[in-house]
Amino acid sequence: MDEAISPGVPPLEALRALPQHQQPTYPDPAAEAAVVARLRALPPLVFAGECDDLRADLAEVGAGRAFILQGGDCAETFDGVTANSIKARMRVLLSMAVVLGYAGQTPVVTLGRIAGQYAKPRSNDTETREGVTLPAYRGDAVNGFDFTKEARTPDPERLVRMYNASASTLNLARAFMAGGFGDVRQSHSWNAHFVRDEHVSERFEALAAEIQRAIGFMEACGLRESSLRVGGFYATHEALLLAYEHSMTRIDYRSGQPYDTSGHLVWIGERTRQLDGAHVELLRHVRNPLGVKLGPSTSPADAVALAERLDPDQEPGRLTLITRLGAAKVRDLLPPLVEAIEATGRRVAWVCDPMHGNTVSTATGFKTRRYADVMGELDGFFDVHEALGTWPGGVHVELTGDDVTECVGGSFDIGEDDLASHYESLCDPRLSRNQALELAFLVAERLSPIAARRAAPTEAEEWDH
Ligand code: PEP
Ligand code: CO
Repeated sequence: MDEAISPGVPPLEALRALPQHQQPTYPDPAAEAAVVARLRALPPLVFAGECDDLRADLAEVGAGRAFILQGGDCAETFDGVTANSIKARMRVLLSMAVVLGYAGQTPVVTLGRIAGQYAKPRSNDTETREGVTLPAYRGDAVNGFDFTKEARTPDPERLVRMYNASASTLNLARAFMAGGFGDVRQSHSWNAHFVRDEHVSERFEALAAEIQRAIGFMEACGLRESSLRVGGFYATHEALLLAYEHSMTRIDYRSGQPYDTSGHLVWIGERTRQLDGAHVELLRHVRNPLGVKLGPSTSPADAVALAERLDPDQEPGRLTLITRLGAAKVRDLLPPLVEAIEATGRRVAWVCDPMHGNTVSTATGFKTRRYADVMGELDGFFDVHEALGTWPGGVHVELTGDDVTECVGGSFDIGEDDLASHYESLCDPRLSRNQALELAFLVAERLSPIAARRAAPTEAEEWDH
């Protein structure tokens, strides 16, 4: 039943014979096969041409001329597919993109962890509560969060729900962008009733007013409105579930090449990036731009081998390397990785995920991240790239559009005792909307002098005139 997608993409059965991690075991394999067949017949969620546009945008990042903002939920949920939730997440991302783009004077490529981020790798296969052991929650794409046997049993029908949830989310995101929500002149209204921390709010309002004046000037010079939008907005997620990603892989009618049409960019997680594993084998055959997470155990040789496997032609925009090394280690571990990759001659986009290397548990049992550690890893990332003369290409953060209390410190100085009040994440702790916007200002402060130096003409160029 596993009809060949080809050219070159191994059949699902062949992938299943390779080493692989973090895959659900369904009680009824025939039911899974039937779901996969249904998914193969459904329309693609993204168009291959959009993936090519994104690859071109990411090539600009690799060349040091644009910056990536990648952010969204750790785990999206089916309950979170509401207009309000989608709007709130997009508002934070677009506000951050405006801050980064204006303050850094750099085009921003906005990648949502959205419309497909429904499956999670877990450290343990099972969870035990009060003597009862059940399968761990692996994201709404696999099983339910409730601690009952029924909810925790993996159900392949959830893959169809993942498709539908992704389609509805993407539809609204596209409608917002096409309908003017991404117009920077709206940045004042994004902020209304949004930022509650006065300090962050004043900064954002001052910047929005400055942008308004700049836009007024550009309009007076005759610049057309269509160019006043926040740059591209794309849907991205971790390509974790092999059956789902394989079933969404289609041949582009224009080029005859395979694309994973579940999202514009898909990434391989830290736990599934084995060189000889099924994830690398599937994704090396699709033409989407790819991300790879690199944790503290990654050796420079591992990174180079992965880059060569996934990007043998050194194609600009193909590869985004997302490092998540931890605040304490980034200064030691990042330089050898960057140097080894740069020595191969390819220009990847270097992105810092300051969240996943900085997760801690409190005495009261909450998983949290300290704002100071998040900023510490970002500072290390910028320092390393400045010292090496390489371009710090972007940030990757877990955030929400709501006033959650999941990460400590930062805006409102959330303390450990406050975590219980609005801890809503089913998985990792996310930045609240105020913490996220504050982070954008701090990143913009680091980016702006580096971008200014890049933009300044060299003496030789000045003489050319
Ligand atoms: C994630 O991004 O949610 C995640 C699980 O990250 P990593 O693969 O870096 O651990
Ligand atoms: Co996470």
